[in-house]
Amino acid sequence: MSDAIGFIGVGSIATAAVEGLVTAPGAAPHVLLSPRNAAKSRALSERFATVAVAESNQAVLDGSGTVFLCLRPQAAAEALRPLRFHPRHTIVSLVPLPLSALASLLRPAQRAVRALVLPTCTERLQAIPYWPEVGELHPLLERLGAPLPLRNERELNALWASTATISAFYAFLETVADWAAARGAAPTAAVDYTAGMAHALARIALVDGTDRFARLSREAATPGGLNEQVVGALRTRGAYVHLRDALDAVLARIEGVPPIA
Ligand SMILES: NC(=O)c1ccc[n+]([C@@H]2O[C@H](COP(=O)([O-])OP(=O)(O)OC[C@H]3O[C@@H](n4cnc5c(N)ncnc54)[C@H](OP(=O)(O)O)[C@@H]3O)[C@@H](O)[C@H]2O)c1
Repeated sequence: MSDAIGFIGVGSIATAAVEGLVTAPGAAPHVLLSPRNAAKSRALSERFATVAVAESNQAVLDGSGTVFLCLRPQAAAEALRPLRFHPRHTIVSLVPLPLSALASLLRPAQRAVRALVLPTCTERLQAIPYWPEVGELHPLLERLGAPLPLRNERELNALWASTATISAFYAFLETVADWAAARGAAPTAAVDYTAGMAHALARIALVDGTDRFARLSREAATPGGLNEQVVGALRTRGAYVHLRDALDAVLARIEGVPPIA
């Protein structure tokens, strides 16, 4: 079964990616999982008929053509060093390490890409940015979202860093809903209304133009109105400067990794 999709590292993101791959429309691919996280691997194999757990990480490689790397960066070298890759392998790394940092460990695999996959890939609602472009991966990545080949690794790193705002995004919504509940809204109404507002606002921002966020922000901020008051207060306190600084620090962390020997 060397045509299976292999997974080395079965944690949170691998669990979501496997679910996305096998539940997408069309014939579900065969998936082979590394055995280390036994509870998660077993749960996936019991849930999906085309998913199996291999005896070892090497058995995953031996049975697979495309291999997803879903290891934490600090575990990657130790996990990959003993493995024997094959020229037929196409590697899809979800690890936030430069490809050059992993290159020596993946030889002689012929193709390796980095893909930005989020747990929401089970819903297939968004793009799957990846680099470098490998056209034959598109049918597989389409099972997780809309494949978005990028021009270079810098572009991937910038988008990757932008996903470090997810927790802050939810914390923002939490603050809004908690505030409304503390000022008299029923907690359920506050949470449901806030989530619905975020959903509707994101939805109209799906189109169009590169200036769309600035335009929508401007349009919402009626001069002398309530929105202008809040965005102005946040700007004055430097909230968006702090956000940019935090993103710069994340990008520096992603890009500042030395090659793994
Ligand atoms: N979670 C996300 O939303 C997300 C999104 C995009 C990218 N990523 C990236 O994807 C990678 C995995 O993230 P995660 O959140 O899924 O982490 P995770 O839940 O900790 O999963 C990593 C898994 O790798 C296993 N592992 C460690 N050493 C191994 C080895 N030698 N052989 C086989 N498996 C081994 C771990 O087992 P133990 O627990 O026993 O060590 C764990 O089950 C990270 O690099 C992360 O940055 C994550």
